[in-house]
Amino acid sequence: MMRSARTPMESLLFFWFSLLSILTISCAVDTITTTQFIRDGDTIVSSSGSFELGFFSPGSGSSKNRYLGIWYKKISTGTVVWVANRDIPLTDTSGVFKVTHQGILILHNTTNTIIWSSNMSRTAQEPVAQLLESGNLVVKEANDASPDNFLWQSFDYPCDTFLPGMKLGKNLETDQDWNLSSWISSDDPAPGDFTYWCDVRGYPQFRVSNGSVGVFRSGPWNGVRFSGYPSLKANTVYKFNFVFNKEEFYYINGLTNGSVVSRAVLNHNGEFQRFTWNNRIQSWTVYLTVPADHCDNYALCGVYGSCNIGNSPVCGCLDKFVPKYPEVWDMADWSYGCVRRTQLDCHNGSDGFLKYSNVKLPDTRYSFFNGSMSLDECRAMCSKNCSCMAYANSDVSEGGSGCLLWFDDLIDIRTFPEDGQDIYIRMASSELGEIGSFSKK
Ligand SMILES: *[C@@H]1O[C@H](CO)[C@@H](O)[C@H](O)[C@H]1NC(C)=O
Ligand SMILES: *[C@@H]1O[C@H](CO)[C@@H](O)[C@H](O)[C@H]1NC(C)=O
Ligand SMILES: *[C@@H]1O[C@H](CO)[C@@H](O)[C@H](O)[C@H]1NC(C)=O
Ligand SMILES: *[C@@H]1O[C@H](CO)[C@@H](O)[C@H](O)[C@H]1NC(C)=O
Ligand SMILES: *[C@@H]1O[C@H](CO)[C@@H](O)[C@H](O)[C@H]1NC(C)=O
Ligand SMILES: *[C@@H]1O[C@H](CO)[C@@H](O)[C@H](O)[C@H]1NC(C)=O
Ligand SMILES: *[C@@H]1O[C@H](CO)[C@@H](O)[C@H](O)[C@H]1NC(C)=O
Ligand SMILES: *[C@@H]1O[C@H](CO)[C@@H](O)[C@H](O)[C@H]1NC(C)=O
Repeated sequence: MMRSARTPMESLLFFWFSLLSILTISCAVDTITTTQFIRDGDTIVSSSGSFELGFFSPGSGSSKNRYLGIWYKKISTGTVVWVANRDIPLTDTSGVFKVTHQGILILHNTTNTIIWSSNMSRTAQEPVAQLLESGNLVVKEANDASPDNFLWQSFDYPCDTFLPGMKLGKNLETDQDWNLSSWISSDDPAPGDFTYWCDVRGYPQFRVSNGSVGVFRSGPWNGVRFSGYPSLKANTVYKFNFVFNKEEFYYINGLTNGSVVSRAVLNHNGEFQRFTWNNRIQSWTVYLTVPADHCDNYALCGVYGSCNIGNSPVCGCLDKFVPKYPEVWDMADWSYGCVRRTQLDCHNGSDGFLKYSNVKLPDTRYSFFNGSMSLDECRAMCSKNCSCMAYANSDVSEGGSGCLLWFDDLIDIRTFPEDGQDIYIRMASSELGEIGSFSKK
């Protein structure tokens, strides 16, 4: 029922109510101090209204559990990006969230049982908790205006969502990981089977694991992109960077255009998916997914096998290699992989190296690298050691530089139609110099 004309009194009231609601909106706080707290039903909102923090129940409504989390505010229908008490849900609406005088965030229920708390290495003077426009919940000193001097930040404890400005990787000084871990299901944010993590054994690379089983490997960063990720290219949505120094090793991205909203998620099926928000249809659109195809399954073709998505079957042995067990291989069980057609003769000093192009570089779990060596020095170093199976440039930008050496059988290789890179594999001298064909046996 519509109201028509207003009396002067109603108009005055209407005016005051409008003013009041404007005031509440413009006063919407993004910060709590040690004397304030957030109860179930209260929220705080980041300064320009992008993100909101409060209590929620996940999924389609079947779960009554309550979690403290952060979700998109301006857009969408409550897409959650971070959860504090992932493992320990509140079963009622008695949750209270606050920041202590020590600067520790605490979530407790009415009987004062601590459900979740943050961790802190420094002591605080006058701490506040603030929800930033990036979606980062930070604890900092009230009078500290510096943009990144935080006592604690939720970006250091990712859940399943990778937001612009977040790091994925490892702090090598503190040994702290920035991992993603999937939710169990859309109704349960507790850590599920899948982890997206940075493996720093050998030359660093990212993996998706299901428990302890490898599912996907990004391949090493080659100065331009991840070796196994040719779809990672300059684009209009997001920019990416990779930082690798003595202290840290991480992948980070930012938005190219501030008016595009984008996030990436490790979903409960173990897929790492990037979404962009489509304002016109008011929903998220998938921008890219890894694993992208069958060949992205970790080690599908075994050692010295190579996966080519354009072939049928997808697995073949690298040129000069043959299936280790041909009968098994022919039954499409490729897990035993391939062996050299001609044995190496390293101790007689007669091996050489054969170049393979357009590949995803093999697993670097057992590798060595030196960013300042040339390809010639790299070859010399590899040929001196009979357990060195291959070498390649660690950086392919500007004509190539740096050295990567492999000290184990080569595994999880795929061949791309383009955009792959070169690797030089140790080979008996009798196999060098002739042009062979790709063995599909
Ligand atoms: C508070 O949490 C504790 C531990 O989970 C639980 O035993 C207790 O019943 C909870 N209290 C209320 C009022 O929910
Ligand atoms: C976090 O808490 C654990 C256990 O309470 C403690 O061992 C660890 O040192 C803390 N970490 C930091 C950074 O304070
Ligand atoms: C990150 O994942 C790796 C591999 O699953 C695991 O060893 C490590 O403990 C994880 N770190 C954190 C902080 O979850
Ligand atoms: C992940 O591991 C679980 C338990 O081992 C298994 O049941 C499930 O099929 C695996 N999922 C994928 C996608 O590999
Ligand atoms: C950013 O995106 C908006 C909307 O798609 C577009 O109108 C604008 O031109 C873009 N700006 C830049 C710098 O690309
Ligand atoms: C090394 O070469 C010599 C002479 O060519 C040959 O007799 C010997 O078997 C070779 N050694 C190995 C380990 O292959
Ligand atoms: C890397 O290679 C350069 C050039 O050969 C050499 O000077 C340097 O000592 C090497 N660094 C390491 C850690 O091996
Ligand atoms: C060859 O390299 C491996 C792995 O780095 C090392 O353990 C071994 O000592 C090296 N052998 C020689 C002869 O240098």
